[in-house]
Amino acid sequence: MTTLRFSDFANVVFFTGAGMSAESGVPTYRGRGGIWKEYDYETYACQTAFDRDPRRVWEFHNYRRGLVAGCEPNAGHRLIAQLERERPGVVVVTQNIDGLHQRAGSRNVFELHGSLWRTRCERCGKREASDDAPLADVHCPCGAFKRPDIVWFGDMLSSDLLRAASEAMSHADLLVAIGTSASVYPAAELPRLAQRAGAVLVEINLEDTPLSDLYDHRLRGTASAILAELCDAATPAPGSAPH
Ligand code: OAD
Repeated sequence: MTTLRFSDFANVVFFTGAGMSAESGVPTYRGRGGIWKEYDYETYACQTAFDRDPRRVWEFHNYRRGLVAGCEPNAGHRLIAQLERERPGVVVVTQNIDGLHQRAGSRNVFELHGSLWRTRCERCGKREASDDAPLADVHCPCGAFKRPDIVWFGDMLSSDLLRAASEAMSHADLLVAIGTSASVYPAAELPRLAQRAGAVLVEINLEDTPLSDLYDHRLRGTASAILAELCDAATPAPGSAPH
């Protein structure tokens, strides 16, 4: 295990993907048990599908709401939230839509791909938060269908959000990517901004990814186990001299 210590870094960005929530029971997108293996995104997760059959798309998203509502943040989410409480410069940039970072207590969270717990009306633009699982009424008061406020295939990321996340990356001293296959752009390449800014880059994953070469430290194992090891390394053993 590396001798990295979070306390050596002022600005720490955690860049998380579906593997972060896997231990909570939320399925990943790719690999074994990945949801895109079972559910074709062209039928369930793009604007064309929604325009064609909004009820079918809502069925899928209500299923996901129900599934995530039954999951709890895991020890990894909680460790990240604890680090944020202990020090100011901790930011989470996540591709996850499950809200588990926030439920664990993280507050500085940029949700690049939107949220399962928010809706947006395409006609009037109204955004609403709701933790109902399933969402009972998928109609906006204006009469149009609400859609999940999620970045689907073919959608653009919010430029404000992307700018804010990019800024956080560019100010990072330490970038920790956790549980992402680094296969969806533009999110996947955000860690390059941290690299250009001279940050130390750490990748936590079960396996290598197409961008693993970018990282100074490639730590293999589950998110919660590796984060626990990094946090333990940061805590001096009882009786040991501070250094
Ligand atoms: P993926 O499902 O593509 O990748 C999950 C990654 O997590 C893989 O690299 C796994 O090896 C790793 N992994 C699995 N379990 C893990 C664990 N317990 N600890 C550590 N790593 C683990 O998920 P993302 O990279 O998040 O976008 O996918 C990116 C985007 O693709 C998602 O945000 C979603 C999807 O299409 C949208 O829906 C817009």
